[in-house]
This record gives sequence, structure tokens and C-alpha cells, in this order.
Amino acid sequence: MSNFINPAIVPKMKLYTGEEIPCIGMGTFGSDRFTAEQVSAAVAGAIRCGYRMFDCAACYGNEDQIGKVFAEAFKEGVVERKDLYVMTKVWNDMHDRVEESCRKSIVDLQSEYIDLFFIHWPFANYHAPGCDVDSRNPDSKPFSPEAYCKTYKQCEELVKKGLIKSIGMSNMTIPKLEAVLPHIEIMPVACEMELHPCFQQQELFDYLVEHKIQPIGFMPIGSPTRPERDMCPEDVADIQLPEMKAIAEAHGVHPAVIALKWAVQRGQIPIPFSVYEAEYVSNLKLTTEDPLTEAEMETIKTLEKNNRLVKGQVFLWEGAESWEDLWDIDGTITK
Ligand SMILES: NC(=O)c1ccc[n+]([C@@H]2O[C@H](COP(=O)([O-])OP(=O)(O)OC[C@H]3O[C@@H](n4cnc5c(N)ncnc54)[C@H](OP(=O)(O)O)[C@@H]3O)[C@@H](O)[C@H]2O)c1
Repeated sequence: MSNFINPAIVPKMKLYTGEEIPCIGMGTFGSDRFTAEQVSAAVAGAIRCGYRMFDCAACYGNEDQIGKVFAEAFKEGVVERKDLYVMTKVWNDMHDRVEESCRKSIVDLQSEYIDLFFIHWPFANYHAPGCDVDSRNPDSKPFSPEAYCKTYKQCEELVKKGLIKSIGMSNMTIPKLEAVLPHIEIMPVACEMELHPCFQQQELFDYLVEHKIQPIGFMPIGSPTRPERDMCPEDVADIQLPEMKAIAEAHGVHPAVIALKWAVQRGQIPIPFSVYEAEYVSNLKLTTEDPLTEAEMETIKTLEKNNRLVKGQVFLWEGAESWEDLWDIDGTITK
């Protein structure tokens, strides 16, 4: 198998701005398993294999190493800055200092500007990386549309200053979007959300498409090797479902590849993570060949199990009853 996939043949998604971006990107969250060096080495390999979109974040703790890899690739002429689509996010402790966070990411990523800048979580509720899921920060507060719009306004200023090209939201719900969208000036181009066969978020997905906001799907394979603290007994392993295995067998690929083909064909942009060359190469290649049939797409549609993996417990405020309070399950913003 050739390890180079010509970026020109990777299908594109069109944003409401008219900009066309790759239909798949690479995640860069190494979590507890991989060091910043391992993740940045994978990014270096991925650029050379033809990846042009990377999902970074200030809180992943590896932007400076990834920046070195970008700089090398620019210097060696592997890729030009204008041909990379660099995404990053402001973390919860910087909602009042968005420009400072963005400028640090630009310096760390050695990228001149950011293509798509996300508000990582809709709460300014800080927790230390890797902390126990039952820990609570006494300063944490429920969602406030006013506070969110204040943070978003700072992102709009970044667009005007040319530091970022577009704004994105992440981990949102329909009630939260309804509360903030009427008050913003520059519409977000994308919303990053958890999306995999057992967690399809159809209603939110449709809402975003209707509002011309591109869904970007994190944990697209169901994050099979996430840390144990993020696993619950009721979680379902997407890639171990018999239907996924059967479709994978029919195509002669790993079920992870099927989850990603489904994502791309459904219309979201998946951002799978892997440090292994064989895996990240096949994750890009799959967008260029052997699509799923309509019947296979229909089968995967039936695998929805409302299995949210990132529950977000650590962002809860005192007095909140359960992680479900973060996700406005009853259709109103939980206060
Ligand atoms: N906005 C947010 O709040 C948010 C939250 C979570 C994640 N994210 C983003 O989403 C990205 C992806 O999430 P994730 O890493 O948790 O989940 P994921 O992409 O669903 O799963 C990654 C794991 O899947 C396996 N894998 C990848 N490609 C494979 C292939 N071709 N064949 C077999 N196995 C394969 C690898 O396991 P092995 O290492 O065992 O091979 C890898 O560690 C993150 O890196 C991050 O950028 C964003």
C-alpha cells in the first residue's frame, strides 16, 4: 500500500463561507497513553502521508511540539501554510483571556494564524488535566448565555484582527445554541461534537446542518483505548458490534475504517487519532475508495445507542445532580 494519498483526491466539505476543507482530519489528543513527542511524530508522518487538517487544543499540552513539526514541514517544502487547516481550542480557564490563549497557540503551533478556533467547552469550569471524574471545582457554574457570548465576542475580535479565519463551538446542545446564536455577529462555521455509530446525535446533527454549521465528529471510532476513568460499565464498544464487524469483513478492513467511512458519507468530518502509521494512513485512504453501500449506511444508522462517552462530570457545579445536567436532556438549559 502506498503511504502517500494525494490531498487533491481527498474529498472536501464546503463551509458556509465558501471555503473547502478536507473531509477528514487527524486528532492530536494523546491523553494518558502517548507523549507529546509520540503525537507530534505521528503528525509529522501524517503530513507526509497527505493529511492536511489537524485538530489541536491548548489543553492537550503538545502544541509546541506539533508546532516544531509544522515548521519543519514548511521549511522542507512538504506543505505550505496555506494548504494546512489548523484547528485549536481555548480551554476553560481562558474564557476571559481568549486573545492571549489564541496568540500562545499561534506561537506554539508556529502557524501565523489559526484556520478554525473553537471554544472547547461552553463552561468556564476549570479542572486539572487528568483529575478524577468525581472531583468538583467549587467555582464551577452552570451554563450562562451571557458569559458564553462574552467569550464568543472575543473570538469575533480575533477574526477581525486576522488571528483566526473562522470560529467553532464544541460540546454544545440545541438549547445552548438557541440561546446564543441570535446574539452573535459572525456565525460559527463548525461545531465539534462526539459522534460515532453508537452516539449519532441525530437531532443536533440536523440542527447544525440546517444552520449551515459543519459537524466535526470527535471520538469517531468510539475511542476504544480511552483512559479507564472515562469508561462506564454501560458503554458499548462500537467497533466490536457484530454489524460493524460484518461490514468490515465484507470490505476487508478493520471496523474502525467502517466507522470513519460512515462518518464521512453521513456528512460529518471525523478527526480520528492514531500514532500508528498503518492506522492513520488507512484512515485517510478510506475517503478515496470503496464507499459503503446504502444498505450498510442504513444498518449503521440502526446502531444508535445514545452512548455518550465523554460525560463531562468534572465540569459539574455544586448542586448539579448528574452529568446529564451538562447536556440539557429535557430540552432546556439546566441551571
Ligand atoms: N472537542 C472535544 O471536546 C474533544 C473531546 C475528545 C476528543 N477530541 C478530539 O478527537 C480526537 C479523536 O478522539 P479519540 O482519540 O478519543 O478517539 P478515536 O479517534 O475514536 O479513537 C482513537 C483510537 O482508535 C484506534 N484506531 C485509530 N485508527 C484505527 C484503525 N485504522 N484501525 C484500528 N484502530 C484504530 C487507536 O487505538 P490504538 O492506539 O489502540 O491502535 C486510537 O488510539 C482526539 O484526538 C481529539 O483531537 C475532541
